[in-house]
Amino acid sequence: MILILDFGSQYTQLIAKRIRGFNIYCEIHAHQQANKIAYDNKWKGIILSGGPSSVYDDDNIKIEKDILQLGIPVLGICYGMQMMAKMLKGTVVVGDRFEYGQAQIFIEAESLLFKGLARENSVWMSHSDHVTALPPEFKILARNKAQEISAFFDEAKKLYAIQFHPEVSHTIGGDLILQNFCKNICASKESWTMHNFYQQKIDQIRETYKSGSVLAAVSGGVDSLVAAKLATDALGDRVKIVFVDNGLLRENEKNEVVAAYQKHLSIKPIVIDAADYFLQELRGITDPEIKRKKIGHAFIRTFEQDSALKNENFDYLLQGTLYPDIIESVSERGASVTIKTHHNVGGLPDKMSLKLFEPLRLLFKDEVRALGLEMGLPKELLYRHPFPGPGLAVRILGEVTTQSLETLRKCDKILIDELFAHNFYHQIWQAFAVLLPVRTVGIKGDRRSYAQVVALRCVESKDAMTADWVKMPYELLGKISSRIVNEVKEINRVVYDVTSKPPATIEWE
Ligand code: XMP
Repeated sequence: MILILDFGSQYTQLIAKRIRGFNIYCEIHAHQQANKIAYDNKWKGIILSGGPSSVYDDDNIKIEKDILQLGIPVLGICYGMQMMAKMLKGTVVVGDRFEYGQAQIFIEAESLLFKGLARENSVWMSHSDHVTALPPEFKILARNKAQEISAFFDEAKKLYAIQFHPEVSHTIGGDLILQNFCKNICASKESWTMHNFYQQKIDQIRETYKSGSVLAAVSGGVDSLVAAKLATDALGDRVKIVFVDNGLLRENEKNEVVAAYQKHLSIKPIVIDAADYFLQELRGITDPEIKRKKIGHAFIRTFEQDSALKNENFDYLLQGTLYPDIIESVSERGASVTIKTHHNVGGLPDKMSLKLFEPLRLLFKDEVRALGLEMGLPKELLYRHPFPGPGLAVRILGEVTTQSLETLRKCDKILIDELFAHNFYHQIWQAFAVLLPVRTVGIKGDRRSYAQVVALRCVESKDAMTADWVKMPYELLGKISSRIVNEVKEINRVVYDVTSKPPATIEWE
């Protein structure tokens, strides 16, 4: 296993994804955990990520020098390089200019890290501080055009530091560098496959959850489906599948989900009709974070108090929480900030009688899909677009009402139907409609109309951490728009969201 210590870089997850792509297992941990976990002898190597801080301005970041002297290979990237330099008594200078984007580096020495690279390489830089003097006994590995130090190393001690980001696709040869580090320097085994993960996870779940019953709350989305299948494979009928109709679902969703579980897991979910309760809880609420928290709490209260479930005395609540949810939601990552409270993570009440059971919490979305395929689940379910736990509530800006839900459902259905009809649905990560809390003037049937606006959001993404808007054919956009304004009487204007993530998020709330 490779340990990635996160200092808050926006690219840390990319490091993990790249390494897992080589079938090598790695975990990201916040730098605050470093002094507790780095000494664990399960690690074959440690990577120190980049980060927004300067080695001189952040008192919070303190990792023990011993971590660099365990005999385990260490690779410092960007801020990680500067930190290594400072800890080992080299010199780091606070920069007065930024080196950002594509840059050339020139390799000056033979090393295992850069084995197989040309002498001159195109890499991705993003820093202003830089190392001006090496720690004693270290050697320069590469410089940039300005003759500044771009990489240094001590091969005998297996310590390496690079100023650029090998995890970013713009670094030509970045994969080779990370592979050299993991395979040749750390001698990590390429044993991280979904087949192995599945078998290990089943054993681990059986070992950890020897008794007790599990409430598997499913949403119809990929994550809860895969989590439910995994839990059921491991624990059999100690797992009960529960589907809450919270009234925030898309058209016909309840029936489709129940049918899918019956067909593919041979299980009939317990369906709880809680639409009135959720709507009542959301009455008058317009703030997105309060909405999310209210919904998270309403789910838990339903699980704990609904008459259909009360006598079951569940011990655990199964959730399809993924790695990015945790990182974005509770800032497990070192220096990152909370962007929004994903309801299945941060929106849960502090006190609840059910203990959380989250078997997918270390997986990325594409790995969850691969696990689903490994378990024999059908592609058409695994490749459905993600749908957020708080449902349509975070796609209705302002107050959620029965009327606004109905309007949004109609728009959403038209969008999705047209994407399927034009073979577009599976080409993109996610597509949905958002109901805006504004009204605009229009003309419908020779009369003045003063009606609502719907926004269409179609994005492509690999893991939802970053996303770009889809350059949809105008004809298709035109068709969707025309159908919406003609078929949904509450709408007289359709707009298309052309913002990437960042700076926007995928959902509007
Ligand atoms: P954002 O809006 O944070 O969304 O860019 C990233 C991805 O996560 C989905 N999403 C959620 N999923 N519970 C979930 O299970 C949530 O509370 C939640 N909020 C957003 C979103 O649809 C996108 O795919």
